[in-house]
This record gives sequence, C-alpha cells and structure tokens, in this order.
Amino acid sequence: MSDAPRSDALAFFGATGDLAYKKIFPALHAMARRGHLEFPVIGVAKSGWNLDQLRARARESIEKHGGGVDDEAFKRLLARLGYIDGDYQDPATYKALLKAMGGAQHPTHYLAIPPSLFATVIKELGSSGCARNGRVIVEKPFGHDLPSAQALNVTLHSVFQESSVFRIDHYLGKEPVQNIVLFRFANTFLEPIWNRRYVKSVQITMAESFGVQGRGAFYDANGAIRDVVQNHLLQVVAYLAMEPPLTTYPESIQDEKVKVFRSILPLDPKDLVRGQFSGYRKEQGVKPDSTVETFAAVRLHIDSWRWDNVPFFIRAGKCMPVDVTEVLVTLKRPPLRKFRPEDANHFRFRLGPDVVIAVGAQIKKPGEHMDSEPTELKLVQRPQGEEMEAYERLLGDAMAGDHLLFTRQDAVEAQWAIVQPILGDATPVKEYQPGTWGPVEANKLTEHSGGWSNPK
Ligand code: BG6
Repeated sequence: MSDAPRSDALAFFGATGDLAYKKIFPALHAMARRGHLEFPVIGVAKSGWNLDQLRARARESIEKHGGGVDDEAFKRLLARLGYIDGDYQDPATYKALLKAMGGAQHPTHYLAIPPSLFATVIKELGSSGCARNGRVIVEKPFGHDLPSAQALNVTLHSVFQESSVFRIDHYLGKEPVQNIVLFRFANTFLEPIWNRRYVKSVQITMAESFGVQGRGAFYDANGAIRDVVQNHLLQVVAYLAMEPPLTTYPESIQDEKVKVFRSILPLDPKDLVRGQFSGYRKEQGVKPDSTVETFAAVRLHIDSWRWDNVPFFIRAGKCMPVDVTEVLVTLKRPPLRKFRPEDANHFRFRLGPDVVIAVGAQIKKPGEHMDSEPTELKLVQRPQGEEMEAYERLLGDAMAGDHLLFTRQDAVEAQWAIVQPILGDATPVKEYQPGTWGPVEANKLTEHSGGWSNPK
C-alpha cells in the first residue's frame, strides 16, 4: 500500500480510440461495479463527438469487451463521465479540462494516445495547471529503442516527477504473473532448488492464434520483439529469476527486477530466430516488402551466481496453433540410470488464458518393472475470467498512487539494452505457415536443451 494521496479525478486522452474501447471503459465499468469509481472521469479527444456519442461508445465497448453491461454500474459510470472534444494543441482544451475536473487536487492523466502526441499533451498539461500535484499514466511501447526511451523520459520528467509517472505494462497487472513472485517466495521447498544446480532450462512461450487484427500499421512499426519480448516477457523473466526482495521498503521488488535486467547479457543475433507468417505482407497497413517479425525466439544468458549457464528461452508469435502463455521450468535429471525417466521434473506456470501452476513428477508405472510415468500435481487450476482484469487493477493502483505494478524508467532502459542489438534486421526473417510453431530454424536454439515444449 502507498501513503500517496488518492487521486480525485481521471482524465483520459484518446477517449474515442482503440485502447479506451478495448480496455479503459471495461475497467471503469468493473470499478463502478465494485463501488470504486468515486471520482469524475473526463474523456478527451478531437473527434467532433459529443458526450452522448461517447456514452454510446462506452456501452458498446463494455458489451463487447467488458463481459456485458451491469445496468447499475453503468449508470454510476455515466453519472461520472464527462467529455471534452478539443485539439491537443489548443490551450482551450486544457482550460475546459481544468473546469471539468471540478477543483480536483490530485488529478491523474491517462495518455491513451500515440506516443508522437505525448510531448504536446504533456507540455500543455504543465502550462495549463492541469498537471499540478497530478499523475500521468503512459502505455508501452516506452520508446522504440534505448535512445527514444530516454528521450520520452525527458519529456515526461519535464512536467511530472518520476514518483508521479505510472508506466503500464499490463502483464504486471495479471494475477497469474504476480503469483510467480508469491509462489517463489512464500514456499520454502522451492528456494533450495531454484538455481543453476537444479534447473536445467526455462522456457516462456507466448502463442497467439490470431494475426495482427487490423493493427497492421502499428505492428509493422514494431514487430514481436518490441511488442511483447522487450516488455511483457522480460517482466516474466525478472519475476522468475529475481532474488528475494527485502520487505523493509516498497521499491525493493522493483530494485530486484532491475538487477535481473542488468545481469542479462545484451542479446547476440546468434541467439535469435525471427519469423514472419505467410500472408502478413498482405495485411492492411503492412509494407508489401516488410521484414518485420511476427515471431521471435531468443536464448537469454543471465550472468549471475544463481543462473550461470541456465538458458532462458523466450518464444512469442502470432498465428500459432493455440492461444497460450506458459512458463516451463525444467529441472535436471536425477543421476541414477535405472530411475532416469524420459521426462524430467518441472514447474509449469500457465499465465493465460486459463491459470495453472503445476509440478511435474514421476511415479511408478504399475507393473512388474521399475518403470516411471509422468504425472502433474496441480496447485492452481482456474478457468479463464475468474481473475480481476489487469487494467482494472492497474487503473485502481494508479489512482491510489501505488507503484508496485508499474515499471520504472531504470527497468525500461535496462530492458531496451538487452534487445538493442537484435532490433530491426539483425537476422533474416524466415517465413512460416499460419497455424504452425514458427520457422523450423527456431528448433536449433533449444536443440541442446531438450527442444521446445509446445503447450496444448
Ligand atoms: C499487447 C500487444 O501489449 O499484448 C499485443 O501489443 C498482444 O500484440 C497483447 O496481443 C497480449 O495481451 P494479453 O493480455 O491478451 O496476453
């Protein structure tokens, strides 16, 4: 918990855009349902809309992406919702915003807009007085490489102090991702084996069965490494690899994560395989000769006492055979030949769409011989949708001033430093067929570590 003051108004820029439609309205509706929406919410955009149009959009968004409208909660949301239609460069927009926030002492400004507009909006928030004692929420991507991430930070800090900046990497708001930390440090049995003496390898797979879903122009400017590896999946690595945090000060988890990022060696192109699904170049917004990757597989080396020589593999792709994000931590085999099974012990964390934490073990196969067969002990097994949505959690935490689930600038920079050498055309992109596990070249990365394990 933070002792920062609770924010008393929320302005969200980009109110008529995609992020608001898919994530922000459903999160606000869920907050209203829990009775947590106790502040004015002002949408800002320059679409020539009025409040009624925004309300209709909110309803549609909640029907489509928020699991359906709860009439009471929706009524509460509408009672709070305001709208300002104005140009982001026009000081009058911010004058109107200041008025709509009705004397709020600690407003939060959510920039759900393209990063190219950040500098303008931040400057105007500063000169209009809207930013006074306020906070700002920004979304990944935080820049598109290390220098641009540093430049973005200078822009943010020109008006907001670091303690008032909330950078959303929505993976940190996911309950099963947070569970990795708790599972690791709340169980005594894990620590003695959670290191290079017992762990053989770690694999993280983020498979999405769909393509770029109408986001061709955005995706083609980014690619899988910038879209999900530099941020979401490195955050998962940090939780898996970090040292126990101190419990005596609030930033200690952040500090431990940054130490992990700094101990990961910058990626060498020989530890990378990039793929592009066949048909990608025909997507709207994608260049016809694009070499941007829709699949990336990397082998990370963590240069630390705990993890020396334990490969951490990450694989992320669009148009894969399934929709699954899963971590597999494989232990070394036991030494005796007689009992040495085909499958080693493992820990499996399924982060989505359903949630699983399982321990893989061997038991005796019934019969005359001392043969083993694999089994899994499921410690957690929950269907999709039982968890609080990441955006509701993160929005609530930002309003409360709690930084734990947000990412800090030193982490962002250390994450960029890891992927910087493999950005762009560091290796040729290989074509793969939709519905497969990416280019066959990716198999080379894991061939000395037992191959990829494909989640079902
Ligand atoms: C986003 C990426 O950050 O995360 C998308 O831009 C990706 O390309 C999405 O599909 C995945 O998020 P989730 O919560 O569905 O796993």
